[in-house]
Amino acid sequence: MLVNSKEMLIRARNKGYAVCQFNINNLEWTRFILEECELNKAPVMLGVSSGAAKYMGGYSTVYSMVNVLIKDLNITIPVVLHLDHGSDFETCKKAIDAGFTSVMIDASKYDLEKNIEITKTVTDYANKFNVTVEAEIGHIGGDEDGITGNILYAEVDDCVTLTKETNIDSLAPALGSVHGIYKGEPKLEYTRMLEIKNNTDLPLVLHGASGIPEYDIKKAISCGVAKININTDLQIAWSKKVREFLNNDNEVYDPRKIIKSGEVEFKKTVYEKLLLTGSINQFNTPNI
Ligand code: 13P
Repeated sequence: MLVNSKEMLIRARNKGYAVCQFNINNLEWTRFILEECELNKAPVMLGVSSGAAKYMGGYSTVYSMVNVLIKDLNITIPVVLHLDHGSDFETCKKAIDAGFTSVMIDASKYDLEKNIEITKTVTDYANKFNVTVEAEIGHIGGDEDGITGNILYAEVDDCVTLTKETNIDSLAPALGSVHGIYKGEPKLEYTRMLEIKNNTDLPLVLHGASGIPEYDIKKAISCGVAKININTDLQIAWSKKVREFLNNDNEVYDPRKIIKSGEVEFKKTVYEKLLLTGSINQFNTPNI
């Protein structure tokens, strides 16, 4: 069942686990994620960047694909279809109009005032359709679908102001994580994370969760993180197995066999993240 993220993330925050957002790139990955999360009765968020949506044909294609996969696979867990890093109002509107149940507006490249102004246009629109909104503050480093940059740590006061002035449902404060592969050890700002949690009362989102050690993920959850975003770890797990498969068989040309060769490792990675975040058997009541 497709739901928005409101109750899913509040429940996770209150119960001390985190929901996984897995980024999807195609039909097969979507099926792998849905099947593994259903098997483990774990609520899940499917993250779709603008680039991934374009790659798959567009927001309506993605919505239709996810919607019918849920039916054909008899998926009973709550599933959120979430726009990852929407860069402006128009992008978020396209996803909402296509049927996405949640969007992220990433206006983090602007100053606080402009970030608030853009975020508010998105919440005003999203609220009319029962769509939840995640915002970013500070700047998460690394490279995500062409959005690059260095880490700019979020300030507690700015998080409070953004929360008060907009109607967001979750907040992604930049606190040391980066998208993609880490060069060196990630250093997350836990004291500030806890302060932001206590002062905003919003479920927090940890972007760039691939490659973050287990201890840090658990610590982040204890400091208010209710959602972690995973993309790179899935890409690495899947492509490693597909590469091995192709290297071992010069004759294979059936795309189903090639794509499927990464399924077991991909699902194992999904399972490990569900286990790590404590989201197994956290099936909750759908909210829409
Ligand atoms: P990783 O690619 O580091 O897993 O980050 C994913 C992410 O944060 C998507 O928004």
